[in-house]
Amino acid sequence: MTDEKLLELFAQMTLEEKIGQLIQLDGGCYGAEELSTGPQQKLGITQDTVDVSGSVLNVLGAEKVREIQNHYLSRSRLKIPLIFMADVIYGYKTVYPIPLALGCTWDPDLIRADYHITAQEASADGCMVTFSPPVDLIRDARWGRCLESPGEDPWLNSQYAKAMVEGFQGNMAPGESMASCVKHFAAYGAVEAGREYNTVDMSERQLRQNYLPAYKAAVDAGCKLAMTSFNTVDGIPATANRWLLHDLLRKEWGFDGVIITDYAAIQELIAHGVAADSRQASQLAMEASVDIDMKTGCYANQLAPLVQDGTLDQSLIDQACLRILRLKNELGLFEDPYRGADAARAAACVEDASHAAAALRTAQEAMVLLKNKNNILPLAKTGQKIALIGPYSDSKDIIGMWAVHADRARAVTLRAAMEIILAAENFGWCVGCPTLDDLSCLGEFGNIPAMKGVSADDKTVAQWEQEALDLAQASDVVVLAMGEHMLQSGEGGSRTDITLPAPQKRLMEKLHQLGKPIVLILFNGRPLVLSDVEPYCDAILEAWFPGTAGGAAIADLLFGNVAPSGHLTTSFPQAVGQLPLYYNHFNTGRPAEGSGHHGRFTSRYMDCPNEPLYPFGFGLGYHSAAYSAVTLSSHTLSAGGSIQASVTIKNTSSIPGTEVVQLYLRDPAASVVRPVKELKGFRRLPLKPGETQTVTFDITEEMLKFYTRTMEYKAEPGTFIVMIGPNSRDVQQAEFTLE
Ligand code: GLC
Repeated sequence: MTDEKLLELFAQMTLEEKIGQLIQLDGGCYGAEELSTGPQQKLGITQDTVDVSGSVLNVLGAEKVREIQNHYLSRSRLKIPLIFMADVIYGYKTVYPIPLALGCTWDPDLIRADYHITAQEASADGCMVTFSPPVDLIRDARWGRCLESPGEDPWLNSQYAKAMVEGFQGNMAPGESMASCVKHFAAYGAVEAGREYNTVDMSERQLRQNYLPAYKAAVDAGCKLAMTSFNTVDGIPATANRWLLHDLLRKEWGFDGVIITDYAAIQELIAHGVAADSRQASQLAMEASVDIDMKTGCYANQLAPLVQDGTLDQSLIDQACLRILRLKNELGLFEDPYRGADAARAAACVEDASHAAAALRTAQEAMVLLKNKNNILPLAKTGQKIALIGPYSDSKDIIGMWAVHADRARAVTLRAAMEIILAAENFGWCVGCPTLDDLSCLGEFGNIPAMKGVSADDKTVAQWEQEALDLAQASDVVVLAMGEHMLQSGEGGSRTDITLPAPQKRLMEKLHQLGKPIVLILFNGRPLVLSDVEPYCDAILEAWFPGTAGGAAIADLLFGNVAPSGHLTTSFPQAVGQLPLYYNHFNTGRPAEGSGHHGRFTSRYMDCPNEPLYPFGFGLGYHSAAYSAVTLSSHTLSAGGSIQASVTIKNTSSIPGTEVVQLYLRDPAASVVRPVKELKGFRRLPLKPGETQTVTFDITEEMLKFYTRTMEYKAEPGTFIVMIGPNSRDVQQAEFTLE
């Protein structure tokens, strides 16, 4: 409808109906009274609230969506449809690798296309808004939600944020798009000690320089919603932080979309200690310009009294309600309350062969080859017996913690994929060991049968181990499929020991004693500490939680059908004690190298190197490549101008491969300290055997800007260092001056 018509509708609304639009409830609150009364009472709300509520949380399925919408509209005075919102984070029925893996493709265009497919699948099944993309910058692998982030670099995360929003939203056409919701605003990835829901505290400079850019990129790409994070920002919880949400997000960035809280975050303002009760919590959130209260009774029960006693100006509620009505109008809900949801179309969409093909290609590109001693990979498909051993050998738990709507049965296991490639006499597999010794660390989720992973009693474990040793002894190569339990990462998955789980390490050590080559395939949702197992492995392939096509993608890389091209977007620590760990760190006044001070009295540990085991940007291929020195078109960059930096790269092998050529810059002397390097560009470069290509990057003044001593965002004249290479460690460099 036209905005004029919308305003006419708005003019008819009562205060209760306007407040209703600000309430989001879970599906249990809707439908037959005998089922909905419990969930309603739990929230302290009544059926009257449900009858005016504005949106529904995590209900999907075209039939269910239609059923709830029809029932709701039959009771609605003004026939304002519900919005159905859900966590469709990195796939719907077809699931891609986790976002931390997607980042390792260094291929935002591919991810945009994948997320468009996801929007087609999910919107056909009734999803109108997705609570995605999460683009929280991460620097601490103890945090379980590293899983959901593209990585540790602000600029690269911004490229993905843009691509993901564009993929979900496209041209907002019904049936093939969803409104996207950038999250978690803001800086949730900086929780102290990597502990879930913990305090975040940093300077405004750090916040703006590193933690905000990706959210801004999502806003600039037109995302329709933003979700407040659970954490504090400068001592004020994001959900009550007017500076963050109103002054910065809405006024400075020009965001005119809908702000929704994270799960029950308004109520949590009491626990945070900024609200004495839900009345004050509601007032703070509304004054901060939060539009939707997810899954509490705060707005439902407190806003009307706050307006009626004059504490809150009704204009705040009017503005919030109008933003939500305009979102509904943009979604076309007044013309089609189901937005095209159709069960048959949804089922047919999922079966489209291009979807499975996209999941396979993306999984292939997301995997990172971390080690390949003596080029043991790719493995020969004939002439040798291969043993596949480990709890992930035949597991479908490879879609990660946040693929709650996935069709798990469609996941391709590694065993199934290898059996297609290898003759029966050349292949054997077994579980070998449980995922964990003890499931109690998983809390109540660990007792859900589908969530158990691979578990066994002591007698079985002994049998499994002997079976694995026998199989390995009778084989030429051992492929280990090992990793974290699926529930050891994701929300609530913070951990202080991020090495491989104990039973898996014990088995690996025993297998290593047999003297057979070992190829480790890793299934995990965060960077792991691999220092203790790396010596046992001839090759290590980081597969992450690779999604629906995971097993097939791993097999394709193992046997050389496809060459690995993934590159890390997070640093892999040598020890958990190094965390937080990130490549774009400051030099300090006493760097470990070149400070002139005695070794002890420099910035270092006594018991561990400073460097990561595998650096940001790192990834091997099956080919090899040589990089020339960096050449510059000029050593002087004039303000507003650009210069070109070039390197020539040669594939020095007989195998085709793809390089990810990375451009880093450094400002060694500025009005504030600047990182030793920052990623400013990259190029995926396929190279035929023996092929030579020159890659040229434009360097502009825009790339040199930062928040200066006076917090102005600008470049400062002086010397700059250009670094180019296949990762953040192995770079060629040159210098230029900005006039
Ligand atoms: C969860 C998560 C958030 C998710 C929301 C709704 O607690 O923090 O990412 O979108 O609740 O499920």
